[in-house]
Amino acid sequence: MAPAPVDDSMPTRISSDCPQDIRDVLYHAWGHDVPGLKKILDVRGKASAQDPQTGETPLHAAIRACGPAAESDDADDGCVEEAKEVMQELFFSGAIWNDVDGNNETPGCVAQRLGHKALYDMCVGAGVRAELLFALMEGYEELSSGSDVGEDAAEEDATAEDAAAEAQGDAKETADQNDRKFVPPDAKEKPVTSDEYLKSTLTYDADKLLDADLNGVMMAWETDIMRRSVAALIPDAEPGKRILNIGFGMGIIDGMFADLKPLRHHIIEAHPSVLEHVFKPASKFGPGWEASGLEDGAYKIHAGKWQEVVPKLLEHGEMYDAIYFDTFGEDYSQLRMFFTEYIPGLLDQEGRFGFFNGLGADRRICYDVYTKVVEMHCADAGLDVEWEESDVDMAGLKEEGKGDWEGVRRRYWTLDKYRLPICTFMG
Ligand SMILES: C[S@@+](CC[C@H](N)C(=O)[O-])C[C@H]1O[C@@H](n2cnc3c(N)ncnc32)[C@H](O)[C@@H]1O
Repeated sequence: MAPAPVDDSMPTRISSDCPQDIRDVLYHAWGHDVPGLKKILDVRGKASAQDPQTGETPLHAAIRACGPAAESDDADDGCVEEAKEVMQELFFSGAIWNDVDGNNETPGCVAQRLGHKALYDMCVGAGVRAELLFALMEGYEELSSGSDVGEDAAEEDATAEDAAAEAQGDAKETADQNDRKFVPPDAKEKPVTSDEYLKSTLTYDADKLLDADLNGVMMAWETDIMRRSVAALIPDAEPGKRILNIGFGMGIIDGMFADLKPLRHHIIEAHPSVLEHVFKPASKFGPGWEASGLEDGAYKIHAGKWQEVVPKLLEHGEMYDAIYFDTFGEDYSQLRMFFTEYIPGLLDQEGRFGFFNGLGADRRICYDVYTKVVEMHCADAGLDVEWEESDVDMAGLKEEGKGDWEGVRRRYWTLDKYRLPICTFMG
């Protein structure tokens, strides 16, 4: 069923019982009145005030006021330029780029829906700045993460932006938040932590692996992404490569790697239920597989968290041509730590590194923000990233609880394009 169209009219978005001080800032933003806004934005938290009924923020209002984009830029009446000025002012004053309104839209989502690319790009820019600042503050460990690396980035981003805004001396007023009546749709989501996940009981069926809370750890619809990742990491399907895969899951990518007859194939897996599954007699990766390598230890499942196993691999001088990273229940800080601290020692100079790119995949703007953040952090680590974009078959993925999502707690993927990262050493 198609979602009901959003009513973008001012009387709907600024509610009749919105407190006067919030109403003022929303009206000034909607009217693109920069001088008027400047006078009231010096009050802490004003730039990210929200209508308690609708969740409208000044950023939403400034963008929404432009209405749907004109067919051509010439037909634009200058509204977009005005909106840009207002948004600039709001961002300077600590406006939060990814607060969701009662329609579960961030300001960037509204800009995208209305077709205002320039305004959308401003939101992406603000998101990137907030995330980079947050990373500098090393605040990731306090964040909750929905499931896989970045799969719940929307929630994570809100916290990140809070931290960033606070760093600029513009924290939201607590009273503001307490007064809110609307509930963002994902506010009740139970976050997954690595420790809890690793203690939980998992269930395998033919097309998915679920944790005890029915979160999708791995699902068969990702098979095409795994296939593309293998092709990107090992072009021309060359045999004889040295491969490291972190996170066995359903063994989909490992099955594909094994088919390429590698020289070395190491797998790191931490979850006891997955390890039990791997070592079942029917498994392709049991002791028989381990014994089939050309030399002792050439094919091996390393049981344990990668954080503990990888330093040992380094000590043994292991070096790989292809490394893939796809864990669950960990936030982006872990992926970043992996490629910053360990890839330089583990990857051959001509090797390729890839990861499952579910970063922010439940919302387009978060995906775009993370693409840029990862690119910058990879550059810091001496890595170039090339993105290979491909279509995702959304036939069974469109609706929460239906199709592939039947029996799965949360639809962690909503995008019709996958951005596959191929990381190589610079220069
Ligand atoms: C999304 S699945 C991997 C799916 C895999 N790419 C496939 O093709 O089937 C994530 C896996 O990472 C494992 N994992 C989670 N945290 C880990 C950690 N810190 N170290 C090693 N493995 C971990 C999980 O138990 C799970 O098996």
